[in-house]
Amino acid sequence: MNAEMSVEMSTEMNAEVSTKMNAKINSKMKAVLLDRPTPAEDVVLSEVPVPESRPGWVLVKVRAFGMNHSEQILRLGEIRADYIQKPVIPGIECVGEIADPSDSGFSVGQKVAALMGGMGRSFHGSYAQYALLPARHVFAVESALSWTDMAAVPETYFTAWGSLFECLRLKAGDTLLIRGGTCALGYAAIQIAKAAGCKVIATTHREARLPLLAAADEAVLDTGRLAGTFRGVTKALELVGPKTVKDTLGCVEKGGIVCNTGILGGVYALNGFDPIKDIPNGVYLTGFYSNNPEEKTIQEIFTFLDRHHLKPAVGAKYDFEHIKDACAAQDSGGANGKIVVYV
Ligand SMILES: NC(=O)c1ccc[n+]([C@@H]2O[C@H](COP(=O)([O-])OP(=O)(O)OC[C@H]3O[C@@H](n4cnc5c(N)ncnc54)[C@H](OP(=O)(O)O)[C@@H]3O)[C@@H](O)[C@H]2O)c1
Repeated sequence: MNAEMSVEMSTEMNAEVSTKMNAKINSKMKAVLLDRPTPAEDVVLSEVPVPESRPGWVLVKVRAFGMNHSEQILRLGEIRADYIQKPVIPGIECVGEIADPSDSGFSVGQKVAALMGGMGRSFHGSYAQYALLPARHVFAVESALSWTDMAAVPETYFTAWGSLFECLRLKAGDTLLIRGGTCALGYAAIQIAKAAGCKVIATTHREARLPLLAAADEAVLDTGRLAGTFRGVTKALELVGPKTVKDTLGCVEKGGIVCNTGILGGVYALNGFDPIKDIPNGVYLTGFYSNNPEEKTIQEIFTFLDRHHLKPAVGAKYDFEHIKDACAAQDSGGANGKIVVYV
């Protein structure tokens, strides 16, 4: 293509985009708007304007989004914090199609996944029909999965993947302990680690939930004190968090690694942590934070799922109109896995 044609095409495309944008200025969409702690029964859909795109940002037509523990924390209390934009449309991830690429280089209709970077906290997130998102947190995705299956992937699988491979350096033959296995992240980590050729021991703090960990090699009731009870654990994924991480450090053998990724136990920081005494000699402690996803990793995950014929672990699916019920399922903990909402 010569330069003239390219300019002509880009002018035409800009005109098309700008017509589309103008058409959208007065159009409305449905979204969840939060400005205070909100129990599930008070979650409603409001009508708000479709956001206008701007340089560096892209407008995504949300097809489905997964729900996360951190959104529950936001909705029930963190919303009070000064650093949260208010009102805010929550939702730290979604999958959908590009509605307006702005200056990003994406094309209209392109399949994408988006996550993190302040989404649903510092700027509006995905509990909406459209989301205006920073282009650097929107990733092209090739996948034959349905929208609802795809929606279970971005945040949960990216976090599991980063924790297991970047932080724990997981390899075939490792014995992995997953503490707090009965959450979306736990189920995803079990699935990935088994496919990667590892032995998996997963824990739950509720005896009734032991059967939910059937995909692991061993399901263990977490009494709060597990140090010294295992032999041969080389890696540990800590999802209960600071509440049990000191104990988890005593669950891995010398040379083992513990990655703290979760905070399910409701304790967010360690007070009085003494690295000299609390980390056994030759044991390594690391942590994973999903705030900086990359397209390469996101696509690698979809390719891995495809190659191993894995269906993302979805606990429950809800229509966007029933977002209140999805939030109630989150609060009751009854979903047993990733809650996905289709829009
Ligand atoms: N570091 C990061 O970047 C990152 C990214 C994503 C998620 N996370 C964290 O990873 C954890 C899992 O997230 P998620 O979205 O997968 O959670 P989720 O699916 O919403 O799971 C919540 C469920 O975890 C279960 N759970 C298991 N062990 C628990 C324990 N000891 N105490 C309390 N609840 C427990 C609870 O069910 P039962 O009590 O009935 O078993 C609860 O219903 C969260 O702490 C989240 O904040 C961190």
